[in-house]
Amino acid sequence: MLPAYLPNPVAAVSGGGTPVDFGRNFTDGRRIFGDGKTWRGLIVGILAGVGIGIIQIWAAGAFELDFLPHLTLLAVCLLAAGALLGDIVKSFFKRRSGRERGAKWPVADQYDLVAGAFLLLVIFDSGWLFGEITLPAFIFILILTPILHRAMNIIGFTIKVKEVPW
Ligand code: CTP
Ligand code: MG
Repeated sequence: MLPAYLPNPVAAVSGGGTPVDFGRNFTDGRRIFGDGKTWRGLIVGILAGVGIGIIQIWAAGAFELDFLPHLTLLAVCLLAAGALLGDIVKSFFKRRSGRERGAKWPVADQYDLVAGAFLLLVIFDSGWLFGEITLPAFIFILILTPILHRAMNIIGFTIKVKEVPW
């Protein structure tokens, strides 16, 4: 799951500059995605996720880590891109619900990356998903994700990369 987990923190440290929505509003007068979603964060975040995935593929071969799911380049790209696309889609609906950038939105804030990553896998590489991710592994991911999310956000807040500890 590292290729899906890494893009968010990397986007937080590398983000800034032009927003993905170019500052435009939706028909409801609110921002489409908001200033928290930038092109730099999106691109650098996805590249980081793909990069760590390529290292994992290499490490799995070098150290014979056969007990782990067998990552492929396609799966890695879908995990990384899906994580941040899920994050952006979440922000679209977050703005529509009237919540400002950075506001707390339980469940959605924690699971957007998992939903995005797994949705892209179901659509573009379901063979890999159902072949490699067992039900216990999936349940483990559902438990681990909010814990990691909270821990990373507290760290991000402490080192002043994030404005709020969630
Ligand atoms: N970030 C970015 N580009 C992205 C995703 C994140 O630049 N595609 C950066 C932004 O600086 C953002 C920070 O990472 O503020 C933390 O991300 P997140 O918590 O997802 O954004 P929020 O600011 O909370 O915005 P939202 O309410 O839309 O989730
Ligand atoms: Mg947030």
